[in-house]
Amino acid sequence: MNKVLVGTQWGDEGKGKIIDWLSEDVDIIVRYQGGNNAGHTVVVGENKYVFHLIPSGILHKGKSCVIGNGVVIDPEVLIKEIHELVKQGFAVDSSNLIISDRAHVIFPYHRVWDSLKEKQLGNLKIGTTGKGIGPCYVDKFDRSGIRMIDLLDKETLKDKLKASLEIKNNILTKVFGHSAFKFEEIYKNYLKFADFLAPFVKDCVIYLDTALKNNKNILFEGAQGTFLDVDFGTYPFVTSSSTLAGAACLGGSIGPARIDKVIGVAKAYTTRVGEGPFPTQLDNDLMNEIREKGNEFGATTGRPRRCGWFDASMVSYAVKVNGIDEIALTKLDVLDDIKNIKICVGYRYKSKIYHYPLADFRFWSEAVPVYEDADGWLEDTSAAHSADELPKNAIKYISKISELIETPVTILSVGSKRNQTFFFQQ
Ligand code: GDP
Ligand code: IMO
Ligand code: MG
Repeated sequence: MNKVLVGTQWGDEGKGKIIDWLSEDVDIIVRYQGGNNAGHTVVVGENKYVFHLIPSGILHKGKSCVIGNGVVIDPEVLIKEIHELVKQGFAVDSSNLIISDRAHVIFPYHRVWDSLKEKQLGNLKIGTTGKGIGPCYVDKFDRSGIRMIDLLDKETLKDKLKASLEIKNNILTKVFGHSAFKFEEIYKNYLKFADFLAPFVKDCVIYLDTALKNNKNILFEGAQGTFLDVDFGTYPFVTSSSTLAGAACLGGSIGPARIDKVIGVAKAYTTRVGEGPFPTQLDNDLMNEIREKGNEFGATTGRPRRCGWFDASMVSYAVKVNGIDEIALTKLDVLDDIKNIKICVGYRYKSKIYHYPLADFRFWSEAVPVYEDADGWLEDTSAAHSADELPKNAIKYISKISELIETPVTILSVGSKRNQTFFFQQ
């Protein structure tokens, strides 16, 4: 069975943790979009691992991990991630890590471009991670990008890098008054990166097709979340890739008919990092309480995440646009001490009630959430291993969410550790 796992909110839903848990039962894990803007955390025993590019399944022996063509790769970050894992005793080599030859490469000018653009936007800045993700995707669609396959041929890399730098340096110096990048320095560094990464680079269409013919099971790991998607998110406060389940096909080199199931990951509340509208955001002590208890600080940038109530209208929209079959609900334990919980069931906008978010940017900023109250359970849930061990009000809360989003909650997470995850059955 081939599954896609996607975030249903604004990212950081706990995808890394659920991917790690589901990896046990699959053979191959594929990242299909985004880049090192992602930070996917997996806690095993006393150790914490944060993955930016390598699929979170790498900690499992005997599994293969693929970085698909839809991902943008900062080779320096990827090499560091490989070294870290090897240092910690994990085997990472060309037999268990495959990098698509078609994935685009991030260069230093992409990172600089990212931060100059943000500076220029001033108050309207997106609050990007500053990793050069947007500019790299811009080059891809401008057809001037440099791909992994180009890195492997010295002459191709030389020609493409020279051509790219000519335009980039012109704009950087003349428009932004920034210093020019030196060809030799970047070329020399990227040849070194290429030498290291060459054994990992393969054609993923052939690799995955062969795997499927051998009855292997594949899990596609989404990064970011539905409302950071470039089409369906809170545009322009989004990332620069398609973050939806459908993107697993294009960015993971597989046809849609081969996907059997889509799993959405939702936090039991909502968080957002970076700028942009957030209708159910809290701005009182409760937000700090949730932030502290949930350790809501960015896994990539360390920025504090904004926190708010669960938005069922938003997650319900995510269910529809991704074709989600089941939900993994995470971080229920973070709500353990809250007496009066709220769930957003719609929005009031221009004196009408809506049950799904509109495309209009003004809607996102002006819509007033309509809440239903839920009674807290005021009991520790972090030691639960089944639905039977949960307080009645926690079950009620989960059932209410499930009813509102018209989708079963099948996986529940009550802590950051592997053994704090279980199949949820009532
Ligand atoms: P991702 O980007 O979706 O993979 O999520 P992140 O790793 O950025 O953020 C999720 C954070 O919540 C990480 O620190 C996880 O260790 C932690 N986490 C995941 N599930 C749970 C849970 O059920 N309870 C608690 N308390 N923490 C969790
Ligand atoms: P994971 O996979 C949360 C946000 C940034 C910013 C916007 C655009 O860990 O869930 P970018 O650098 O992508 O151009 O920034 O998107 N963002 C994320 N927020 N989780 C992520 O990834 C994110 N990746 C990007 O904060 O608002
Ligand atoms: Mg994250």
